Amino acid sequence: MPCQTGRVTGVDAVSIITTKRDGGELSDAQIDWVVDGFTRGSVADEQMSALAMAIVWRGMTRRETARWTAAMIASGRRMDFTDLPRPTVDKHSTGGVGDKITLPLAPLVAACGAAVPQLSGRGLGHTGGTLDKLESIPGWRADVEVARMREILADPAIGAVVCAAGADLAPADKRLYALRDVTGTVESIPLIASSIMSKKIAEGTGALVLDVKVGAGAFMKELGAARELATTMVELGQDAGVRTVALLTAMDTPLGRTAGNALEVAESVEVLAGGGPADVVALTLALAGEMVALAGLDVDPADVLAGGRAMDYWRTMVRAQGGDPDGPLPRARHTETLRAERDGVLTRLDAMGVGIAAWRLGAGRARQGDPVQFGAGIEMHAKPGDPVVAGQALLTLHTDTPDAIPGAVAALADSITIDATAPTGDAPLILDRIGS
Ligand code: URA
Repeated sequence: MPCQTGRVTGVDAVSIITTKRDGGELSDAQIDWVVDGFTRGSVADEQMSALAMAIVWRGMTRRETARWTAAMIASGRRMDFTDLPRPTVDKHSTGGVGDKITLPLAPLVAACGAAVPQLSGRGLGHTGGTLDKLESIPGWRADVEVARMREILADPAIGAVVCAAGADLAPADKRLYALRDVTGTVESIPLIASSIMSKKIAEGTGALVLDVKVGAGAFMKELGAARELATTMVELGQDAGVRTVALLTAMDTPLGRTAGNALEVAESVEVLAGGGPADVVALTLALAGEMVALAGLDVDPADVLAGGRAMDYWRTMVRAQGGDPDGPLPRARHTETLRAERDGVLTRLDAMGVGIAAWRLGAGRARQGDPVQFGAGIEMHAKPGDPVVAGQALLTLHTDTPDAIPGAVAALADSITIDATAPTGDAPLILDRIGS
């Protein structure tokens, strides 16, 4: 593709790149021009890659980030659900291991009286994707036309839809994210924030709760960087008229006791049935509380969960997308159990190690478009803080491809610590909250 060097508009790609490379601030006109040109193909991939790298090094001001986000939204369709009879509210997680929270959360918040339009993604690398998890339910489909989405959201017995974003939603972000992935330019707070928020704002939700993960298994390893990302996203949402709040939550160890698609669906159904692991229940209720408050509803999600209404909404939500809530979930053909080597207390189960192991077992994909094994993943029989005895089962690995087991075991080799005694004090799950 020819590089864009023409100066007919008074703006050109090379001067935009060099302005940012030298630490300057891009004007609104420059940002609109370069994002539009990239979407249309007149700004070449190598020019956008160079600009992305300059942004990684030099950053963007709040004004530049807001304009960049607006330009990405303007590259495609912006949905509008303001005519629905119920307030709309969505949740976005920056991604973690065992993060199945959307599955119990969306029907719970719908059961509280809000409409939940959630455009979601498939997993890449060590974090699983919500669509992959739901696709393990027999018959369930991720593709929903906008007209059908609107019908589901307006239906008081359903109210929640989790589906794939259409190609026309922030197409500039789709192209740019693919380019950033292969040019070492993902790690930039303004680029991550504008990428996430352009899609969420274009999705048409009236309110948004962000779950920004912090720790070993997250994008953001440090609390300070996570706080900066959360603050940038909250500001972008509020500037665009979307009521936005962020929770910063721990991702040093996996959430719950499963990582892997069908395994996580089964665990989510346990939560909807009133059981499930304490951390999954606590985070679901914390996020639901924020969502319900932003939606202006005076309901306690804990009461709704305890009363069984969230389970009713789960069943109608799954059926609305072709799924059978009573259908048998896929199970992997092979399992392998890893056992504790000594007596003591499990003090560390590293989220990144578990995520990579689950991915190697077949739960995730290495490249976009690869298939996933729905039954693959890891069951955790102990979590940090639990006493263990030598020989006790710690993890069960599930896979259809037993050749993958040694690679998964290798990923877990440095991920498990058993000490003689437990550390004092519980590690908090919710680390901070940003937004008014
Ligand atoms: N997720 C996104 O959608 N975009 C990013 O840039 C990073 C994570």
